[in-house]
Amino acid sequence: MRLSLAIYAAFASVAMSYPLAKRQSGLPACAFWGGDITVPDRPVTSFIAPYQQSPVLSIAKNTLGAARLPVPPNIAGTYSGGSVNITLGRETGAAAYRIWRDANAVAWVSDWGQPSLSAVDSAPCDGGFYTIVAMQDSNSNDTSMGVMSLPYQIQSNGQLGTYSAPVGKTFQVRVTSYNNLGPTATGYNAQLGGCAVDPRVIPWGTYFYVPDYGYCLATDIGTWIQDNAVDIWLPDEQAGNWGVQYRNITIVGDLANPPSGSTPTSTTTTSTSKSSSSSTQTTTTTTTSSKTTTTSSSKTTTKASTTSATKTTTKASSTTTTTSQSPTSTSTACTSANNGQSLCTASGSSGYKECVNNTWVSFQCGTGTILS
Ligand SMILES: *[C@@H]1O[C@H](CO)[C@@H](O)[C@H](O)[C@H]1NC(C)=O
Ligand SMILES: *[C@@H]1O[C@H](CO)[C@@H](O)[C@H](O)[C@H]1NC(C)=O
Ligand SMILES: *[C@@H]1O[C@H](CO)[C@@H](O)[C@H](O)[C@H]1NC(C)=O
Ligand SMILES: *[C@@H]1O[C@H](CO)[C@@H](O)[C@H](O)[C@H]1NC(C)=O
Repeated sequence: MRLSLAIYAAFASVAMSYPLAKRQSGLPACAFWGGDITVPDRPVTSFIAPYQQSPVLSIAKNTLGAARLPVPPNIAGTYSGGSVNITLGRETGAAAYRIWRDANAVAWVSDWGQPSLSAVDSAPCDGGFYTIVAMQDSNSNDTSMGVMSLPYQIQSNGQLGTYSAPVGKTFQVRVTSYNNLGPTATGYNAQLGGCAVDPRVIPWGTYFYVPDYGYCLATDIGTWIQDNAVDIWLPDEQAGNWGVQYRNITIVGDLANPPSGSTPTSTTTTSTSKSSSSSTQTTTTTTTSSKTTTTSSSKTTTKASTTSATKTTTKASSTTTTTSQSPTSTSTACTSANNGQSLCTASGSSGYKECVNNTWVSFQCGTGTILS
């Protein structure tokens, strides 16, 4: 037991940089969206299997059952002079657009009737993935958000181009779990089949298969979800039951090519290919488990009933602000026992606190930015 834990810890400390991304020489390495956060050791815990398999999540419809706005048309971009000028076509019914690079907010483009829609990323990085989405209104929550784009990357010709998921690629990651409810970093509500990733490693919009869990669509982030780590969403106590595990996940598709839902076969097993790693990760990190992005405690109930077909209990509504890994209580204590817990400071989306290293850390959580 000891031995295997030590081995896992060793794996965990090795950053796997850009396993899926093309590198663009001359650009700096992509930094972790959350800045300089050190992930503590996450020893493997005991494990109780989830009560259901996670299906292939579709984001075609929002939580009210209405079709989401499609991906904006004519997405293009040019890298020149150290920045990327991104242009978009108008989407009928869209009031605004959001652009992220590896979960860092690049732009919020409101449509006020300007002749053309564009935004500039003045800090592009090596292999960074861009995600673009149209919004019905400026709420940036589940009902507002359109379908996210495929990941875009700077190609060797300096133009943005779409990135296709390398189906069949398998590698080992640390898998933790969370049960927060409400909007995640992408605005989509937390739900079974949606997972938090380090978007430098697994871009948003990628489907992957996690043994013992099922399918995951990358739609969220977490402060301790850095490098080879993912945070899977499970309802209620199932998140704590999962604990901290390691699994070989397999990339199974993306939003243009979703998986069929049958058990995937892997063609490659590159577990932890570690290239020169850590040097490339600007960040330090600390992460622990699960924390993902939920912001407002208000919409809890709705969510619970729509997500887990199987076993949602009344409990869900009261646990919104806690994270799975430390499923204790919603008290405001922040001690070593509470690290990883998060707290909404307002029922809208104006504040967000997280217990990091025994201290509450506040994050901005306004309309433009939802961090976890
Ligand atoms: C970006 O490109 C658009 C379309 O060509 C252009 O109208 C806009 O001025 C450009 N923005 C910058 C900052 O170069
Ligand atoms: C989205 O935000 C609006 C305005 O705050 C709110 O009325 C609506 O209920 C929210 N929708 C969801 C699904 O949270
Ligand atoms: C992942 O696959 C590698 C290569 O087969 C294997 O050594 C490792 O034990 C696997 N990890 C897990 C968590 O199953
Ligand atoms: C946690 O806090 C202690 C005491 O302030 C400090 O020495 C330590 O470096 C911190 N650890 C991390 C990971 O920030």
